[in-house]
Amino acid sequence: MARPPLQLPPEPFGLCALPELGRALAAQLQSGDIILLYGDLGAGKTALVRAITAALGVDPAEVGSPTFALVHTYDGAAWPVVHADLYRLESVAELQAAGLDELLIDAQALVFVEWPTLLEPLLPPAHYALELAICGDERILTQRPACV
Ligand SMILES: Nc1ncnc2c1ncn2[C@@H]1O[C@H](COP(=O)(O)OP(=O)(O)OP(=O)(O)O)[C@@H](O)[C@H]1O
Ligand SMILES: [Mg+2]
Repeated sequence: MARPPLQLPPEPFGLCALPELGRALAAQLQSGDIILLYGDLGAGKTALVRAITAALGVDPAEVGSPTFALVHTYDGAAWPVVHADLYRLESVAELQAAGLDELLIDAQALVFVEWPTLLEPLLPPAHYALELAICGDERILTQRPACV
């Protein structure tokens, strides 16, 4: 069944607003959801994942950038939480060779993917695609259309 688009904050938000935003987004997500996170270096993708997963019960200290490990898995939420960062990968073949396609398309987990472009051709039609833009000391969050 089609899911509604996520309700996002209409205004730019700073670091102080992240806990509340994390709670608001967490309440709209469930296992099997894939959330692609676009945005430049330092746009706040990892910080947003930390805020959402904290609201679900994950220890925020556990949530770091998976740039080098490629994938982190977190306990503490009602479902496994998978957090990937594909920045270092250069091809879909490399992604598949690392087994990431199967790991990231997992109906049992809630999956966040930073730098997700390489995953796009492998994705199921139902997924969320969020974009963070830097606006001075704040960030703007938008949703790419036709993704759910
Ligand atoms: N909502 C926000 N408002 C203001 N500053 C923020 C916000 N989110 C993150 N930041 C700042 O931006 C820095 C980088 O954030 P973060 O590591 O989450 O970015 P990223 O998009 O994951 O970067 P990368 O592409 O390198 O993985 C943080 O250390 C924090 O200082
Ligand atoms: Mg990051």
